[in-house]
Amino acid sequence: MQITGAVVAITGASAGIGRATALEFAREGARVAIGARRTDRLDALAEAIRASGSEALVLALDVADEKQVRRFVDATVERFGRLDVLVNNAGYGVRGRVEETPAADYERLMRVNYLGTVYGCQAAIPIMRRQGRGLIVNISSIVGHRAMPAGGAYAATKAAQISLTEALRVELRGSGVYASSVHPIGTESEFVEVAERESQGRKGGAVGPQQTALDVARAIVGCAKHPTPEVYPHALSRGLVWLNAVAPGLNDWLWARAARKAGRI
Ligand SMILES: NC(=O)c1ccc[n+]([C@@H]2O[C@H](COP(=O)([O-])OP(=O)(O)OC[C@H]3O[C@@H](n4cnc5c(N)ncnc54)[C@H](OP(=O)(O)O)[C@@H]3O)[C@@H](O)[C@H]2O)c1
Repeated sequence: MQITGAVVAITGASAGIGRATALEFAREGARVAIGARRTDRLDALAEAIRASGSEALVLALDVADEKQVRRFVDATVERFGRLDVLVNNAGYGVRGRVEETPAADYERLMRVNYLGTVYGCQAAIPIMRRQGRGLIVNISSIVGHRAMPAGGAYAATKAAQISLTEALRVELRGSGVYASSVHPIGTESEFVEVAERESQGRKGGAVGPQQTALDVARAIVGCAKHPTPEVYPHALSRGLVWLNAVAPGLNDWLWARAARKAGRI
């Protein structure tokens, strides 16, 4: 896909990966629609995008609300005339062992991380099918393939995004529309701060190497140029997925050791 002039809509663009992705697409000449709940942050981002010579549309958005997601997608098309890329990025995590994490946390996480993605796909697919072209990028996580201890509630939402994207990829075959899932490892953003706030003192959190939000943003833009089914912005990730497929018990042992050493469980 040619990025210059493309129309890209990004949920959760007020911070972290979403913000970096909006800036990276704009830098390459895309017109971007940016949605999140903190519109003051989005306004500042839109100013930076316009200053760089690109166009931006700001929309208040809570992805847990289907109507708001549909409005976000429709407003993008009204303003820019089409939708080339939708990045379903909005999300957050909570920590805690399976038995100590309140049921309400599981429900809210699914509503934001998983159903928010479903709503985005359902709003965008008919538009992209009519265009005969488009790309949906669902920001999952490496933990969608391999959950970490004290992170099961969050990881399950990321696994759900992977399953959804797998089904979608095949359903869309031949339509000119593509779907990809992205699998970051621990990424420098506000994610940890939000997870701490949401977890009421429960232990957990990522172990292992970190990458920057810009690393992930570049991988997402790369996927828009040449769509691939699954995107792994960090070199070690595919190895972890492979190891988990062939030796899940060994992976259990490695995670337990690393998480204990880091004081996460
Ligand atoms: N950081 C990591 O280690 C990591 C690793 C793998 C995958 N991921 C995934 O990457 C995505 C982005 O995370 P991040 O690391 O960039 O975290 P972040 O810095 O905390 O950014 C999260 C973004 O999502 C938005 N958001 C949260 N709840 C929302 C809601 N209900 N409606 C609309 N927007 C909402 C936030 O905006 P508002 O608060 O303004 O609404 C913010 O813009 C998430 O899906 C996350 O699961 C992150």
